[in-house]
Amino acid sequence: MLTLSNNYRIFLVMRTKHKILFSNAQSMDEINDQSIDLVVTSPPYPMIEMWDEIFAKQDPSITDALKLNDGNHAFELMHRQLDQVWNELYRITKPGAIVCINIGDATRTIQSEFKLYSNHSRILNHCLKLGFNNLPNILWRKQTNAPNKFMGSGMLAPGAYVTLEHEYILIFRKGNKRLFSTKEESQNRSESAFFWEERNVWFSDVWDLKGRKQKLGNKKSRDRSGAFPFELAYHLINMFSVKGHYVLDPFLGTGTTTITALAAGRNSIGYEIDENLSKTIASIFNDNLLNDLNNYIRKRILNHLAFVETRKSRKGQDAFKHINIYYDFPVMTKQERKIILNFLESIDTVNNNLIIADYITEPVLDTYSKESLFAIA
Ligand SMILES: C[S@@+](CC[C@H](N)C(=O)[O-])C[C@H]1O[C@@H](n2cnc3c(N)ncnc32)[C@H](O)[C@@H]1O
Repeated sequence: MLTLSNNYRIFLVMRTKHKILFSNAQSMDEINDQSIDLVVTSPPYPMIEMWDEIFAKQDPSITDALKLNDGNHAFELMHRQLDQVWNELYRITKPGAIVCINIGDATRTIQSEFKLYSNHSRILNHCLKLGFNNLPNILWRKQTNAPNKFMGSGMLAPGAYVTLEHEYILIFRKGNKRLFSTKEESQNRSESAFFWEERNVWFSDVWDLKGRKQKLGNKKSRDRSGAFPFELAYHLINMFSVKGHYVLDPFLGTGTTTITALAAGRNSIGYEIDENLSKTIASIFNDNLLNDLNNYIRKRILNHLAFVETRKSRKGQDAFKHINIYYDFPVMTKQERKIILNFLESIDTVNNNLIIADYITEPVLDTYSKESLFAIA
């Protein structure tokens, strides 16, 4: 029998469930009041032309407003559609739950009048009215080197316009900090912690995800769908929830939030109104997914070990004061002593709407070296 010296933790089975519902998130009747721990989402962006049709389907008077060149009215009508989803979020989130909304502003010329439609401030105001508290937000910098990125009158003042090269990740909390009162809850919270060096990057208020490869999924279809990068959702899920929590994406698109929740050991629910996306979503759950996600988890461990080596070479033997009790590697703080990153054991697509994942619960350094840790211990 394998036992860990000095540590008497029993590694129970770990399983997560992922539901995908093809319906309108304006009424998420399948979800009970106060049952969701975290929302990570990105809605269609009002006044960005690629989303006009989807908004117009929900409210045909949007088409009329656009035909009448009434940009302000169209903007407001589109946001009233989104408001209904934000209202639902207030109902279904637990006290202390976090809501992360990725949104970009829009620029549009209507009847030769160019202007900015401030989506982020419209959503921010509505969510504040609902009663959410706003926490420090993140600017997601999406720098472009496209030659046509500058808009307006070129080198001639004053008709040239500043290029929009960022989007927002608005962060809200329902009420005050959540509590982890039982022993089990605080143990799980410790095991779900992130590394100090990850904290230093993830909790910056400017994220620059440009240049990071989107290894998962087909790049072309992700661009067309307005998909956010895997890292964006993965970081938010690790920052604002713990293992076993319920993560919701009411605007699921290609399913990024589902696979990131799966990678992070959280349960998830996704709503998507466009059933045509079911094939795209199903294609993510291919034979490579388990390997891709385990590679990502492996990379986190390797990055930490590389950080340890670099710091030791600069600071010598006193570089670290703490040891992770499971992996026996150095960590910067006491809070990282119980981190466990769980590799995936299996992903089962029960049907198009339900995926079940099982995890390796022992703290192994790699999927193929289950024994290595016990050798160290
Ligand atoms: C910006 S995309 C989300 C992209 C997603 N984050 C990803 O990584 O693929 C917005 C999605 O919301 C869907 N949508 C729009 N209105 C909706 C509604 N009322 N309920 C559910 N889904 C909706 C659209 O069909 C679209 O796929």
